[in-house]
Amino acid sequence: MNEPREGSNAEPTTHFGYQRVPESQKARKVAEVFHSVAAKYDLMNDLMSGGIHRLWKRFTIELSGVRPGNRVLDIAGGTGDLTRQFSRLVGPSGEVVLADINASMLKVGRDKLLDSGVAGNVSFVQADAEKLPFPDNHFDCVTIAFGLRNVTHKEDALRSMLRVLKPGGRLLVLEFSKPTSSLLSKAYDAYSFTLLPLMGKLVTNDADSYRYLAESIRMHPDQETLKAMMVDAGFERVTYHNMTGGIVALHRGIKP
Ligand SMILES: C[S@@+](CC[C@H](N)C(=O)[O-])C[C@H]1O[C@@H](n2cnc3c(N)ncnc32)[C@H](O)[C@@H]1O
Repeated sequence: MNEPREGSNAEPTTHFGYQRVPESQKARKVAEVFHSVAAKYDLMNDLMSGGIHRLWKRFTIELSGVRPGNRVLDIAGGTGDLTRQFSRLVGPSGEVVLADINASMLKVGRDKLLDSGVAGNVSFVQADAEKLPFPDNHFDCVTIAFGLRNVTHKEDALRSMLRVLKPGGRLLVLEFSKPTSSLLSKAYDAYSFTLLPLMGKLVTNDADSYRYLAESIRMHPDQETLKAMMVDAGFERVTYHNMTGGIVALHRGIKP
């Protein structure tokens, strides 16, 4: 997915939306996006999806199979929508780690969860999905919701998530994907490249971040490609469910 630049010692490049940037710059550019949108992130999620992101997340929780006493990692957890539900499900004998690379998103998530009285079974960790700072075979379930497409080396992130899962543990990847009908695809393109940046401009005074959102979705691997990447990383029984006509897909894989 990442390509070397021409010339023998040139740094490999990767995509940032539709631009190609040196790999070392992508994380900083992604960080700028999420620093900029953090304060209005939840509001924009509801506006952009008409609230449907809540249903996508509810289905993720249902498929996670998380039970009381489990240990769960919500990586790229941002403002903590999944973490809040997991905290309730695992109960006082369980543990949830909300991890995110971005201090602004983590702060909004932490404040929100503490304000809503989430129990003391949640901890907050600033971490990169590519290099998770947790022991091997540690979690029963790892989730990454709308995070993987922002990661520079997705294969490294998938391997890192596999490492920290216990054998039999589940990885759930909730992410934008490829609409299954061409008609829906056209309507979705029109929406994403006109209305989304306009909403971003009006609500956050930042059209560029929402243009990046639309572009990064188009550059993200489709359903079958992501499934193959999860298999290559070492997951087994990898399946996916399309939601909202494939605009979003939930992939699940098990650590052997
Ligand atoms: C679109 S938000 C999703 C937040 C939350 N999971 C949700 O579904 O509402 C994407 C999050 O991924 C985080 N992120 C981006 N790159 C990351 C990385 N390499 N490691 C960990 N988190 C990352 C961003 O900081 C941001 O909070």
